[in-house]
Order: sequence, then C-alpha cells, then structure tokens
Amino acid sequence: MPSFQPLEKQLTDRVRAAVATLSPDAPLDRVNVERSKAGRGSDFQCAAAMQLTKVLKRNPRQIAQEIVDALELDGLAVPDIAGPGFIGFTASAETLRAQYAAQLSDDRLGAPQSDGSTVVIDFSSPNVAKRMHIGHIRSTIIGDALRRFGLFLGHAVIGDNHIGDWGTQFGQLIYGWNTWRDEAAFEADPVGELERIYVKFHAEADEALHDASRAELAKLQAGDPENLALWQMMIDSSRHAFDQVYDRLDVRFDHTFGESHYNAMLQPLITELLDSGIAVEDEGAAVVFFKDDEGEDTMTPFLVRKKDGAALYATTDVATILYRQAHWTPSRLIYVTDMRQQLHFQQLFATVQLMGIDDIALDHVWFGMMSLPEGSFSTRKGNVIRLDELLDEAEARARAVLVDRVRDDFSEAEMDELASIIGIGAVKYADLSNNPQSNVVFSFDKMLSFEGNTAPYLQYTSARTHSLVRRAAEKGLEADGTTIRIDDEAERALLLHLFDFGRSVQVAWEQGKPNLMATFLYELATKYHRWWAACPVLKDGVEPELTASRLNLNALAQRVLVQGLGLLGIRSPERM
Ligand code: ARG
Repeated sequence: MPSFQPLEKQLTDRVRAAVATLSPDAPLDRVNVERSKAGRGSDFQCAAAMQLTKVLKRNPRQIAQEIVDALELDGLAVPDIAGPGFIGFTASAETLRAQYAAQLSDDRLGAPQSDGSTVVIDFSSPNVAKRMHIGHIRSTIIGDALRRFGLFLGHAVIGDNHIGDWGTQFGQLIYGWNTWRDEAAFEADPVGELERIYVKFHAEADEALHDASRAELAKLQAGDPENLALWQMMIDSSRHAFDQVYDRLDVRFDHTFGESHYNAMLQPLITELLDSGIAVEDEGAAVVFFKDDEGEDTMTPFLVRKKDGAALYATTDVATILYRQAHWTPSRLIYVTDMRQQLHFQQLFATVQLMGIDDIALDHVWFGMMSLPEGSFSTRKGNVIRLDELLDEAEARARAVLVDRVRDDFSEAEMDELASIIGIGAVKYADLSNNPQSNVVFSFDKMLSFEGNTAPYLQYTSARTHSLVRRAAEKGLEADGTTIRIDDEAERALLLHLFDFGRSVQVAWEQGKPNLMATFLYELATKYHRWWAACPVLKDGVEPELTASRLNLNALAQRVLVQGLGLLGIRSPERM
C-alpha cells in the first residue's frame, strides 16, 4: 500500500527540483506549495516566482513560466499561472484516487509519525483540600487534548498531574481540623468540609492563629506521625473527589506525583544553586538574577529560598524538571496553566537553562480566563462555580434540548447516555474551540446549539454519516473502499479537506492549540453538509459507480470526524 504523503509536500518537492535547475543559488527552503484559498480556481498554489525575482533578476511571470516548463509532474496535477506569477495546481483524478487509497489504508489516516520521543505534559494540577472549580477546567481539558494529540502522533506521552499537596496551607488546615472539624460533614463531603475549615481559618486568622498554624506546619515538616496522617488523609480525600471529575471527563494521568514528591530534593538543590553561583544570597534569601552583559536585570529575579529558609513553589518546579529529565529524558515539557503564571515559567525556564539544561523544549501553554455571563448559572454555594455542578448542569440542559429534537425512540437510559455525550462534549468543545490565549465566556445556550461551531453540530454531523451507512445497508449497499469518482466541486472540496487531517493534528500539537483541530473539524462538517446537499447518494437514478464513490467518501469523512473529535476527548454518537 502506498504511504500517505501530503500533496502539498509532494508538489513542494517537485517545484523545488524545478527551481534548482533554474539557479544553484535559489533559496529552496523558502519555496513552498500550499492549499489555495477558496475560490482561487486551483487546489494548491505556490508564490515562489515572486520570492525569486531578486536572485533570478527576471519578472515573476516569466519565472513562473520557467518553473512550469521545468516541472516534472508525472500527471500529479495540472499547473496554471495566475495574477503576478502565482503557480496554481489542480490535482488530477488519478492523484485524488491514489491519495484517497493511501489515507484509507492508513490506521492513522495520514497523520505523520513522530520520532517517538517522550513528551511530559503537566496539566490540571489543582490544589489539595479545595474543590476543583471553573478555573481548573481549561488546564484539564486543554492538557488532555494535547496528550491525545501527542499519543496519536506516536510520542511516548507522560501526563503528570502536579497537584498542590504541600505548603503553608497545610499548617492552617491541620490547625483548623483540630479546632473546628465537623466529622459528620466530613463524612458526607470531605473536600467541602476541608474547604470550609480553610475559609474559616482565613476569616478568623490573627497573629496567634498564624503562629499556631506555623507550629503545626513545622511539626508536619519534621515528620510528626499525627500531622503526617492528617495530611495524607486530606490528600486521599481530595484525590478521590478529583478522580470523580476526571472520570466524568474521561481524563487520564500517568502520574500524580504532586509537589510533595520533590521535598527531599529541595535543600540540596538550593545548596547546589548557591555553590554554582546561579543563585546568590540576598539578606538570607536565595535568588536567581537574570542579567545582561551590562549587568542590568533582564527579568524579575526568581526567589528559590525565603529568608526563613523555606523552599517555594519555584524551587519545587526546578526540582521537578531535574527529576523528569533524570527519569524520563523527555524531548519536550509542556505546562498548561492560566496566564497569570507566565512570568513564573519564564523565570523557571531561564533558571534551568543557566543550569545547562538545553536539550528539552520547554513550553508554557497558557490560557485566558473562563467566565460565565452574569446570571446564567445558579450556584447554590456563593460565587465559586463548582466543576461537578457545571457538568451536571450541562448534562441536564443537553437532555432538555434533546427531548425537543430527537425523533428516534430512545429509551430513558439511552437518553441519559446521549445527554452525557453531548453535555460533556459541549463543555469541552466550548473551551477547545477557542484559542487558548483568549478569554472564554461560557454560555450554555451557545455551546448546546446545533448550529455553528459547537460540539452538538459536529456530533450531529457524525450521526448523519452513520445514518447514511444504515440507509445504504437497508438497500444492501456498503462502502467498497476502492471506487472514487470526483464529479462535483463539493466532492472535490470535501476530499481535499480530508487529506489535510494529519497536517492539522501536527500543527495543533506543535503550537499547543487544540482550536486549530476544532477549526479543521468545523470546516470538515461544513463541507460535508454542502456535499450532502449537492451530491445525492442513494437517490433513484444515481449511477452505481457514483453511489459507490460517495459511500466511500462518507466512510472516510466519518472516520476522520470521529477520530478528530476523539482527539479532543469528545465522543461521537451513532444516532441522535
Ligand atoms: N497547582 C498550581 C495551581 O493551581 C498549578 C501547577 C502547575 N504546574 C507546575 N508544575 N507548576 O495554580
């Protein structure tokens, strides 16, 4: 079977070979063929002629003609020249057939195979003894999508949930637990009770309370068995609550080491940083300065030890990189957090570079804030929007929308299942379809709409592909996996878009932008519906060869759509 090579790539190679015959000095790496914009009249285009005028000292139209004359296309595509010197390419029927066959026979639908290197993704990472709330949703959902992209491209991906399970808050929690605990409340809702204690501490905190909590923290750090047991109990009950949310979201981690895992590394690390001169003592604290040649600060200094000798979040993050490097030798390390941590990660990355770590690509995928429009969601407890309640609400609203829409007869259990697939899918997609770096205003009405760039629209499209398969089966027909005949413009547009799947996954992964995958899928759905309207499949009078070809196109569209949604962590129902 032929392996899948994107047509842009095949054409780029041929144009480069042609350009090389015109001049040995031509900068070939700048010569590229891309998909044409809609309405351009060709499938692909190349702007090389305009870029080469300086080297070749001729006008671009003339250069374009010389390139076309030197091209050896072997029937791959038909070239044309347009405007000031754009070379256009229209793929031949033979090429479309071969490309279709190559994509169809590929388990990974034409996605490129990575070098298999290890990539660590640090995501979700909530803090213990607090409920996950709407602020954690983006890290969890974006991180999980990136994890799926990386695995699909053939990387060894390690998802590490770096939970906040250490720090001053544990002195406060232990003090509060000993003083104010309500065992029955804890029994019923452990994290709720811990959160209440934490909030109460901060409401009542005075000097005496702070001293008492510091004493509890010191006992914990010294290994006092009672405090250690309390601390462990708080972690276990929090993790149990987090796991319930992860299960509903179908999010998995390979490790949940958490900050405390690195405690033993911290003091030796500080000593090492000071000994090597990377950090300096500053009134008892240890600080990493970032200076240019003139001795001016290029960035805010990074505090790695407080005056009282305590290590910090920052110190733990340096230790964590050393640990990950030693145990996993990753080629890339991705952190998914909100925008407020940008400076922290710039400082962290600069610090480990000073330590000589230069063979790991360090990426901070930061995201903007997520908010709800006023009054769209009723919270029972104050103004913190709880993630579990948000998911409940999404499922309930999805069910209400479905009751109005669905014509098939579904059992109650099937309706529940469908409401969950659509409600959870809608929440994820509302996040993932936005550029991570923009703020998202969450609207249930918008995300659950069956029109526009939403999960239900894509899921409905997938269900439509299935319904066509079912109706064909009733007539004894099914996709044969070979026949491809492209008669209609809508058909050509759909097929060429399907070919672009692998490149889209690759770019979304490299840039840390799941929204690029969402855009690909939305365009796929739009093109599918246009094709559906223009190209009858089972209608009387359609030639059998066209029916066969269209069933094949439908099958490929279905596979790509289901796979693409799956890469976003979204399920595709077969009926809805
Ligand atoms: N626990 C932190 C928070 O809630 C996020 C941790 C991100 N990961 C890291 N290695 N710093 O803000």
